[in-house]
Amino acid sequence: MGDIHRFAAAVRHHSIRPPEHRTLRTAASQGSFLEIVQLIPSHTVPELIPLVAGWLYNEWGRHLPGRSLETAEHALRQEPDPRGLPSTLIAIEGDEPVGVARLVEFDLDSRPDLGPWLASVYVPADKRSRGTGTLVCSGIVEIARQRGYSTLYLFTPDRAPFYERQGWEVVGYQLHRGVQVTLMKLDLGAFD
Ligand SMILES: CC(C)(COP(=O)(O)OP(=O)(O)OC[C@H]1O[C@@H](n2cnc3c(N)ncnc32)[C@H](O)[C@@H]1OP(=O)(O)O)[C@@H](O)C(=O)NCCC(=O)NCCS
Repeated sequence: MGDIHRFAAAVRHHSIRPPEHRTLRTAASQGSFLEIVQLIPSHTVPELIPLVAGWLYNEWGRHLPGRSLETAEHALRQEPDPRGLPSTLIAIEGDEPVGVARLVEFDLDSRPDLGPWLASVYVPADKRSRGTGTLVCSGIVEIARQRGYSTLYLFTPDRAPFYERQGWEVVGYQLHRGVQVTLMKLDLGAFD
């Protein structure tokens, strides 16, 4: 029941209504009961931040100048400003973090004119292909909609089909740090 109350607090914090599709029932790794995967704002669960920051640092930060585990942890401790920027949602199954996604003001250096951005979408390898990645994306989309944004952007080197299945469309292609990336957008008005 503690987790349910924590989810309710998270929902209130972001004014997210909890419709059925935003909770995910999966078979628990032990026992036959079902667990619910919850989306919790990262700054409300500081005890989980070192682990989740480690995922993001290992996946993207370790090769970038000026990035460290500490800067990753700092980003996840930030509370959203009145525009909802940045917002970080951690997916939690039982007491275990199983995914993360962020809403940020800037992400692609060459396109500071665009935003906000869906960024840092990550699910640990042993927890993939169960819908968790889609779930954390939908939580960020919901926050962006509720903050009144009409368009959300992202870029990806290799996961465009994953986002296309969630309604995103390709805007173009460009080089980012020597790698070709796909620039995508989601028209949030289309969901009204
Ligand atoms: C991309 C990433 C976040 C996806 O996470 P995930 O939890 O596996 O995402 P989902 O389970 O929602 O979807 C993954 C696939 O599983 C499928 N799937 C979803 N639920 C499923 C289920 N219950 N059973 C079987 N397959 C399922 C989806 O159709 C999807 O297929 P696709 O990848 O061909 O589109 C994860 O692979 C990851 O962290 N990768 C490394 C970091 C990264 O690349 N992030 C994206 C940066 S742009």
